[in-house]
Amino acid sequence: MAKDVIIACDFASKQQTLDFLDRFEGGRKPFVKIGMELFYAEGPDIVREIKRRGHPIFLDLKLHDIPNTVRKAMKVLSGLDVDMCNVHAAGTVEMMRAAVEGLTRADGTRPLLIAVTQLTSTSEERMQQELLIGASINDTIVKYAQNAREAGLDGVVCSPLEAAMVKDACGQDFVTVTPGIRFADAAADDQVRITTPARAREIGADYIVVGRPVTAAPDPVAAYQRCLLEFLNI
Ligand code: C5P
Repeated sequence: MAKDVIIACDFASKQQTLDFLDRFEGGRKPFVKIGMELFYAEGPDIVREIKRRGHPIFLDLKLHDIPNTVRKAMKVLSGLDVDMCNVHAAGTVEMMRAAVEGLTRADGTRPLLIAVTQLTSTSEERMQQELLIGASINDTIVKYAQNAREAGLDGVVCSPLEAAMVKDACGQDFVTVTPGIRFADAAADDQVRITTPARAREIGADYIVVGRPVTAAPDPVAAYQRCLLEFLNI
């Protein structure tokens, strides 16, 4: 199964993003995550431009709507030729099935489709008291991951510390995409459940999503190479 380091390009504008990616010209083209802020500010052109430069793209828009709307929106994203995109598993198995349908191209190929189980910003207490979900957060994550698998999705976004649990429940081939990555000698910022690229590899994560440890590093290319060395041993 493919494993890779994805850089979360959490920049506010196209210019900042392209200036950042210019640093990687001439070397390995990193897998890039584009989130809501950049996509809503710049629209599909930012995806086309980064794709034109040769980067694989994870478009992190976390769709969650009625199945028909998600199917049609996914058809649009599929036409953008992204490599990975995602939905909220809370939208139900039916919604996730519609996402797979919308994403699948005429030739049967499609980008990887990943589900968000519970956002890492949701505590167990809030989930139970505000959302009236009585199960434990771990049971919820496992159940949502199983729903995603049943709907034909490829994997889930989860904390690296949850990756082994998800693999046990859904199979080793079920993809885990894990943010919350920090170098051993760095600050946690606002992330709580964190681990290093090396430890994420040991746990069995397939893709690590790394933002500030690379984007805010004095030498982002060196920081990216450190991720590759620790996570992929290259
Ligand atoms: O800068 P940092 O490495 O914390 O960035 C992590 C990236 O992963 C951000 O784009 C953040 O929105 C995203 N993310 C996360 N936790 C999740 C889902 C996505 O940190 N559960």
